[in-house]
Amino acid sequence: MKDMTILAIESSCDETSVAIIKNGVEEIATTILTQMDIHATFGGVVPEIASRHHIENITIVIEKTLKDAGMEMADIDAIGVTYGPGLIGSLLVGVQAAKTLAYIYNKPLIPVHHIAGHIYANNLVKRLEFPLIALVVSGGHTELVYMKEDYSFEKIGGTLDDAVGEAYDKAARVMNLAYPGGPRVDKLAHEGKDTYNLPLPLDDDSYNFSFSGLKSAVINIAHNEDQRGNEIRVADLATSFQNRVVEILTKKTLRALKEYNVKNLIVAGGVAANKGLRSSLEKKCLENDINLCVPPIKYCTDNAAMIGAAAYYAYLKGNLADLNMSAKATDKL
Ligand code: KG4
Ligand code: ZN
Repeated sequence: MKDMTILAIESSCDETSVAIIKNGVEEIATTILTQMDIHATFGGVVPEIASRHHIENITIVIEKTLKDAGMEMADIDAIGVTYGPGLIGSLLVGVQAAKTLAYIYNKPLIPVHHIAGHIYANNLVKRLEFPLIALVVSGGHTELVYMKEDYSFEKIGGTLDDAVGEAYDKAARVMNLAYPGGPRVDKLAHEGKDTYNLPLPLDDDSYNFSFSGLKSAVINIAHNEDQRGNEIRVADLATSFQNRVVEILTKKTLRALKEYNVKNLIVAGGVAANKGLRSSLEKKCLENDINLCVPPIKYCTDNAAMIGAAAYYAYLKGNLADLNMSAKATDKL
């Protein structure tokens, strides 16, 4: 097959990102414009503000990425875009930009599910090997996905309530840590001791997860300490919280690998940046002869490079959209 160069757009949350990816594996250029500092003052992403900034930034980010690649639209074979899930106002900006480019330059339009993008971030590190299990851990998702081949996704379990990143961010808030709290809790977790008696969440035979009980337990401890006039031992609380999260994620992922007789594990999403989770999975995978692929930090959080990688395999499967395509706030993988 002839080479295929995809211009991809990601705008599902608070990052405006555009990338140019060749054949699903080669990153030619990526731009990520984050609004994190703007939303940090509000303690979380404000959807209306996010979409307004996407509108202001999208054209600039597209032009910069083409310039960095030394390319023009004539060098692009197709347009890939995150159509969902995410914040609807944010998604619409990327989708509209992608549709406009596809229409003006007469290029195929490839819709990409955000989680497929996170999974295919690993393809930019090393070509995926199948069958595999993907542990998807982000601000909006906690899922175990079985893939027997490219672009085939079978969800075998997921969170029943809060996503793991969401639980991190909410737990961080009661520890008085700034948004996004996940990386800050992770850092502190390496400085404290596991002294708080927190429950291991949903330790059952399913592949599902539940983090709201654990999050509430952290909030209760913080309030109780406060009422007694005690200081919260923040580092110890971070360590105790992270240990439970990492233990349950590792335990259920390992069981899935065994029961599905799979030797390849990939980790995807913002929480894949977590040092505690990475080292726990590395240790267990080494012991159990499992090939582990975790993306470098720059591919863990939202970016368009991962969307460009996924778009190539979506295209090979014939997943194309026309100009009636719309953004979807929620959609299953
Ligand atoms: O994938 P992502 O950029 O956005 C979504 O699609 O949700 O993930 C963002 C989430 C946030 O909740 C953030 O706190 C969390 O990933 N996160 C972490 C770490 N780095 C980012 N959580 C725990 N430890 C980290 N090192
Ligand atoms: Zn994401």
